[in-house]
Amino acid sequence: MQRIEELSEEGDRYFDGLVDKFARSLYQAPRGELRLAMLDHLLPQMLDLSQQAVLDVGGGLGQQAAWFAKRGHAVTMTEPSADMLAYAQHWHAACDELSSQVITYGQAPLQHLADEHPGPWPLITCHAVLEWLGDPRAALASLAALLAPGGQLSLMVFNRDALRFSNALKGNVDKALNDRLEGQGKRQRLTPISPVTHDQIAQWSADHHLTIESVAGIRIFQDYLQHPPTSDAERDKLLALEKQYCQYDPHWRLGRYLLYTLRKPETVI
Ligand SMILES: C[S@@+](CC[C@H](N)C(=O)[O-])C[C@H]1O[C@@H](n2cnc3c(N)ncnc32)[C@H](O)[C@@H]1O
Repeated sequence: MQRIEELSEEGDRYFDGLVDKFARSLYQAPRGELRLAMLDHLLPQMLDLSQQAVLDVGGGLGQQAAWFAKRGHAVTMTEPSADMLAYAQHWHAACDELSSQVITYGQAPLQHLADEHPGPWPLITCHAVLEWLGDPRAALASLAALLAPGGQLSLMVFNRDALRFSNALKGNVDKALNDRLEGQGKRQRLTPISPVTHDQIAQWSADHHLTIESVAGIRIFQDYLQHPPTSDAERDKLLALEKQYCQYDPHWRLGRYLLYTLRKPETVI
């Protein structure tokens, strides 16, 4: 099979060269704002937070690392892309609220963390990373191995089922019919190369003795709106709607992202 030059040896898409595009198209746009607002709402409910040390895997531009650091956690942020890591470090350094917090940085892919940051960690976050990997199943095994017994993994993945649905809505019927949904990871494209389903996460978690403690959909309505909000009042109403139904079956199942809390048991029998 021909290798695409933008991918790593393992077939992963590191975000080198994508800082501006990623920042612009996600975090400087309503969908990024909504994602951060939903994580701010959900993480305190879905995780046992006690200022424990946290490993943020594939931390990107550093938003999640900053969120934990502001709450008094000692954060280790790892990221294979030098560009992304440099952006995060500069941004954190310029952020007044983080002046007394220490964040440790490591330029490394998930596959190297057992050697470079073995922990074991009481809390790991890995948000929107699995879908950029050649082998997301193996990645979940690596994350499980890094967790301390009783530890929690906050895992967020790009939802393949939602991608199919939105392709159908946009008129990309052939793509949906043939289930040809993956991006190629080429140039500046931000369609994930390995979108995953809830069934896969359920199966892979069970394979690695991780229990699904809770699940929520992120952006369950926003991408499907025919009339997106045009004022702050409308945006607030959409946020209220997303909060109200993000854990309600069936709506969470078509969230653009699926957010899980997975726990490693104290002992594996
Ligand atoms: C969509 S971004 C998500 C960034 C951040 N976690 C967030 O939620 O905004 C995906 C990130 O995964 C990183 N990544 C790609 N391959 C990786 C790997 N093998 N190990 C860890 N991170 C990886 C990319 O460089 C990129 O920064």
